[in-house]
Amino acid sequence: MFLTVFFLLVALCTQGGNGKEGEEAQRPGHVSVVIVGGTGDLAKKYLWQGFFQLYINQVSSGNTFSFYGGGQSPTEKATPVLFEILKAVSCSKDVSQERCALLKDQFLRLAQYRQLKSLEDYQDLAKHIEQQLQEEGMTEAGRLFYLSVPAFAYADIAEKINSSCRPKSGAWLRVVLEKPFGHDYGSAQVLASQLRSSLTEEEMYRIDHYLGKQVVSKMLPFRIQNKKLLDPIWNKHHIERVEIVLKETLDVKGRIAFYDQYGVIRDVLQNHLTEVMTLLTMRLPKNVSRSEEVLGNKLQILSSMLPLGKNQAVIGQYQTYKAEVQQELNKTKDHVSHTPTFAAVLAQIDDAQYEGMPILLISGKMLDERVGYARVLFKNDIFCVQNHNNVHCKPKQIVFYFGHGSLQYPAILVSKNLFKPALVDSEWKEVTEHKDVNVFGLPISDFYIQIPMEQKEAYAELISHIFLGQKNSFISTENLLASWDLWTPLLSSLASTFPRIYPGGADNADVLDIHLKGKDVSYNNEVVIISTDHLGGTSTNGFQVMQGKFRSSEMVSAWAEQLVDKLAADIQEAAEAAIYEGGVFHLALSGGSTPLALFHRLADHHFTFPWRNTHVWMVDERCVLPTELESNFRNLHDHLLQHVRIPYYNIHPMPVHLNQRLCVEEDGGALMYEKQLVKLVNSSSFHFVLLGVGYDGHTASLFPGGKADELGDSLVALTESPSKPHQRMSLTFNVINRARKVALLVMGKGKHELITQLSRVKDNPDKWPVTGVKPTNGNLVWYIDYDALLG
Ligand code: BG6
Repeated sequence: MFLTVFFLLVALCTQGGNGKEGEEAQRPGHVSVVIVGGTGDLAKKYLWQGFFQLYINQVSSGNTFSFYGGGQSPTEKATPVLFEILKAVSCSKDVSQERCALLKDQFLRLAQYRQLKSLEDYQDLAKHIEQQLQEEGMTEAGRLFYLSVPAFAYADIAEKINSSCRPKSGAWLRVVLEKPFGHDYGSAQVLASQLRSSLTEEEMYRIDHYLGKQVVSKMLPFRIQNKKLLDPIWNKHHIERVEIVLKETLDVKGRIAFYDQYGVIRDVLQNHLTEVMTLLTMRLPKNVSRSEEVLGNKLQILSSMLPLGKNQAVIGQYQTYKAEVQQELNKTKDHVSHTPTFAAVLAQIDDAQYEGMPILLISGKMLDERVGYARVLFKNDIFCVQNHNNVHCKPKQIVFYFGHGSLQYPAILVSKNLFKPALVDSEWKEVTEHKDVNVFGLPISDFYIQIPMEQKEAYAELISHIFLGQKNSFISTENLLASWDLWTPLLSSLASTFPRIYPGGADNADVLDIHLKGKDVSYNNEVVIISTDHLGGTSTNGFQVMQGKFRSSEMVSAWAEQLVDKLAADIQEAAEAAIYEGGVFHLALSGGSTPLALFHRLADHHFTFPWRNTHVWMVDERCVLPTELESNFRNLHDHLLQHVRIPYYNIHPMPVHLNQRLCVEEDGGALMYEKQLVKLVNSSSFHFVLLGVGYDGHTASLFPGGKADELGDSLVALTESPSKPHQRMSLTFNVINRARKVALLVMGKGKHELITQLSRVKDNPDKWPVTGVKPTNGNLVWYIDYDALLG
């Protein structure tokens, strides 16, 4: 059958192969294409169409084909599904209707579904292929397996292919893999070594579909074509910044099980945007088709990136994401996900050419528009004294526009005041007449524009490269690991960061605007404060900080991130005022997990905090060694103290470990702490005490039924907690209520019920210890996030 099809088509077809260098290296023959996951979404949307395109292009090249859609389902069930998918493939405009119908018919006849579940299934497939080859007397060119299945199945399938489906020597084996290639450096390394036990590096084709996008694939050719003009300006002296952006309007409903594990950095930045970044900045290869050189130059850039830390990123999460997670993952209402759906990262390359040049990588779901581009914005050193509309006064930029957005098509744009670029290749054309659209606020007529003559799908392009054995547009193991090496430390440092919540779409307004400051990036807009007398207030967009009353005291409420920002700002204000007044600031901090976000905020953003004149005290401590994870001091140290310049002698951990034992009354630790604070803190009145409240209403380590009155006049006491570790040391109400300012920080949906109860109960410190917080001359402020307040 294959031969018949082949001869028929040779007669009809005029279109040959692509004729690129990889093709010469492979002899023609029979090619078996197996899409494992052949009835899945990706196959349905792109892969079968891509292989049909390949078939059309190659049918007269001396190759013959058979196509297999593989899957877990039994053949009788999946065959009709596969054929429904195959029936939908189409030809490009240059193929006549008659020829298209014939090609399609032949394509369908060459395709079949096969169940590919067990090793025997793979063995049967191999037998089938060999039998066909023999029957038709064909030489085998190669076997192409496209694994369009979840990544956890890769190693197993690769092993089955290795043990049963290798072609005889002389024919090639190519196995195509789709991301995710791991979750971080460690898991990528594990997966890579599992795959290497079944496949050689040469046989693996890791796909990043961005490398198949027409504009992305022309970045290097564009740079080469225009090398003479670009060379003098492609450096830190001339480039203001580079922006690599993928904005999307959709949410991730339906994919949460995957997405919540990954988030936007792993989903888009680590791969697509990183690839684009390397194409823009790598040393130009002598030959773009030489994969070794291309991949080597990319690796060089990846290896010279400055490390990415928390200060180089901001993250966000669209507002309804949380509810989607709760619904799709069957989580309770108090489940909180830290997974970012938006991220902006500032990357920099540590070499002489680019040092200090900001490279922004930005992507997000639920933004205002769908658009992708890489924009190189040049410095404009011309100062226009009068006519600011003069072309010389306008921004100078090169924009690689991937598609969508205001233009709606892929294009390369060069500002007319920069230079007139040469065409990237003969399949591209210059556009001189255009719609009346703006790009980055400039009329499109300000640019030289070139576009591909025909728009092509990324997958079809990459499938043709796989067939031709061109590895330059795929990800090597070495490059993959280098990319994870760059991203993993950032991912770890962001793991406990609260993403900023954004409403989605046009409502985001300026919520996600970012600000570059040296090597750091932050959100541009600070918290807006409005005053309202009642809950619900007049907060128009739900992103502001509300002020109101709770249990007759002042209350500040906001989304967690803004609340923490506000509290940190209030602490700094109190510090500055105290130091102005008396030269010193005494701050007592609570333990537990609630204040961690505050510690991070203080450490990472409050560079002007007067730590030198601040004394840090502890509200309470668990009777464990300071090296234990449960130690409040350890938390305080790890998340705050070690990151700020505070004199060692200004730090006052509670002495829970004396005489080689923990919290023994006779060792007098509590008294010792009390004496220390009486001596150092004026009238034992802290300037600021940060408290939290537990589910049972405890505050500091003062628990329900703890008989606070039995503690007498003491300022520090040993107490008992109902939960482990039971023994505690705590400040008492005697000293807490002497403070100038007490902040009670309550966050998370889990505290909503408690907040509701507390809003109703009368003061009863024995039952609800937190109700005993009543500063005599000071001021109590409740900081309650919206989750805790509104549920
Ligand atoms: C995929 C991501 O790799 O790329 C998606 O998993 C994202 O989350 C998509 O939407 C974007 O690709 P494109 O081609 O639509 O820009």
